[in-house]
Amino acid sequence: MKNLIVANWKMNPDSAEDAEYLFDGILKSAPKLKNTEIIICPPFAYLDRLSQKSKIKNGKVKTYLGAQDVFWENKGAFTGEISPKMLKKIGANYVIIGHSERRKNFVETDEMINKKIKAALKSGLKVIFCVGEFERDEKGEYLKFVKNEVLEGLKGIPRALTKNLTLAYEPVWAISSNKGARPDTPEELLQMIIYIRRILFFRFGRKIYKDTPVLYGGSVDENNAKNFIEKGQAQGLLVGRASLSAKSFVELLKSIN
Ligand code: PGA
Repeated sequence: MKNLIVANWKMNPDSAEDAEYLFDGILKSAPKLKNTEIIICPPFAYLDRLSQKSKIKNGKVKTYLGAQDVFWENKGAFTGEISPKMLKKIGANYVIIGHSERRKNFVETDEMINKKIKAALKSGLKVIFCVGEFERDEKGEYLKFVKNEVLEGLKGIPRALTKNLTLAYEPVWAISSNKGARPDTPEELLQMIIYIRRILFFRFGRKIYKDTPVLYGGSVDENNAKNFIEKGQAQGLLVGRASLSAKSFVELLKSIN
């Protein structure tokens, strides 16, 4: 199975020129990694531009582009939304769905996330579906919370559509923009990855659970990335802050080589 390293730029950088500069910086120096796919998820507004750029081969590696959200209808009176079809047209192969910042700031419910996942998978986009608890309690309630997010998000999704599905475990308390954030430990992550894989196993069966990558996100940087993959057994990483500097992101990629 391939490792996926996903750069989630969130609402950054604040100009198209800076976005191109960052993108070029990554492409120019990113190492060629065996069995690794690099996916850059810029704001919608830069997707088209970066997709034009990515067609010009100026580095050793191929990168894919992803969006940070999508709507579930293909057209119509939905002010401010963007459809799976539109995303594909402007060069996105992937889409992040259910990020905790969207769940919180835009009150995205499990039901909405489920509709988005279905529509995106049906359209042929590859989905990076985010789940993760707000806090870790002693009693282990957070396990139920994560299980519920996984099952609700994947409700009614047929096995045939899971080929393009990836899960990303991002505990909210570990995301660098949150106060007091700290990365998970590889040991605890390993337990969570096993737990999520078990949920996938019971929901979809052996084959799908084996083929569905589960990533980790939350304060990942060039110093801890390797451990999350090797000790934590994550099949990739979702990287926020450290993906906003070409130098850090390239170092991170080199570190997992
Ligand atoms: P972070 O963000 O790497 O800055 O913690 C990860 C994310 O929110 O996807």
